[in-house]
Amino acid sequence: MLEIETTNRCNLSCPYCIKRVEKREEKDMTPSEFDHILKELLTIRPTPASRGREFFILHGHGEPLMNPHFTDIVNNPLLKKFPMVRFSTNATLLTQEKIKSIIDAGTIELINVSLQSARKEVMETLQRGANFEETVANIRNLIRYAHGKRTYVRIQQLKTTLNSNETRADYEKLLEVKNFLFWSRNLTYTTQSTQLPEEVRHLIIRQKNSRFFPRLRVSACWKNGKYVYGDSVIVNVHGNLTGCCWDSSNLQTYGNVFEKPLSELRSGGLLKTLRRELVNKDFHRLPICKRCVTRLPVTTPTTESRGLPASSLSPRDSSLVGAG
Ligand SMILES: C[S@@+](CC[C@H](N)C(=O)[O-])C[C@H]1O[C@@H](n2cnc3c(N)ncnc32)[C@H](O)[C@@H]1O
Ligand code: SF4
Repeated sequence: MLEIETTNRCNLSCPYCIKRVEKREEKDMTPSEFDHILKELLTIRPTPASRGREFFILHGHGEPLMNPHFTDIVNNPLLKKFPMVRFSTNATLLTQEKIKSIIDAGTIELINVSLQSARKEVMETLQRGANFEETVANIRNLIRYAHGKRTYVRIQQLKTTLNSNETRADYEKLLEVKNFLFWSRNLTYTTQSTQLPEEVRHLIIRQKNSRFFPRLRVSACWKNGKYVYGDSVIVNVHGNLTGCCWDSSNLQTYGNVFEKPLSELRSGGLLKTLRRELVNKDFHRLPICKRCVTRLPVTTPTTESRGLPASSLSPRDSSLVGAG
């Protein structure tokens, strides 16, 4: 997986979001910084992560559409050299003009829309700061405009105690269309497990056999039964590299892509040390890993259903399950 965080600013304050514990200066990536990172990424590909199943995500801990340059970013022609480029959005800022510019760029394979409920009260509680009616209108416009083009729209619901009874059918009724992908997965919360704020704790659906939390899906550091820290290339808006998408405060970075060539940093001693400590399970040496409950080698069950006939899905569509 490749990830470039194009901004770490957001217009909402969802109570469960990692941003609430983040301690980074807020910033939007400029188109030239983005271009620089793309060129650097092209020097190291194929990474181990790129074999077969590579996603390239253009969001991190923020709302991509808060970046005033986001449409320029997705229109960077170098993006066409990367397969499966996608991003997630809360859709609150998706004007018709932006929808057109993003889809017409032809670089985006999938837009993941976070819509936590088909009910106004629940949605506005879970996505604090959003206006339900306006957001739903934007999503309808997006689905309509994307129809028949190369960009899939996927609605993503994080299952919590407030919306667990809602299904795809509720979303179809609300959006008045069926041609969207749907992904429902559990809310997770990995930092400072003993200090979970009550407003997050009461949202989490406990599962059988979990000690504190639902079972978590590990994608960035655990693959095929092995720790692969740094296999995914994650570049945050400040240019720092990390192996963990939850490293919102830059506690386990292995260099900065604006200061040194990516290839040098990827083969450097710092990443090797981080990997060795993780493989040896020396978690106490790793500020992020030591408090991460995902290091339990478990997986989260997810459900996905599609409103498209199988014949209308591209061959790569199996990759749409469970990504980004
Ligand atoms: C951090 S958001 C950034 C993109 C955009 N602002 C959005 O909400 O889609 C990226 C994804 O993380 C999900 N997310 C946020 N907090 C989460 C949590 N505690 N557990 C699981 N997913 C979470 C959001 O629903 C969204 O799909
Ligand atoms: S909209 Fe996205 S980035 Fe913003 S608070 Fe909600 S989940 Fe986090």
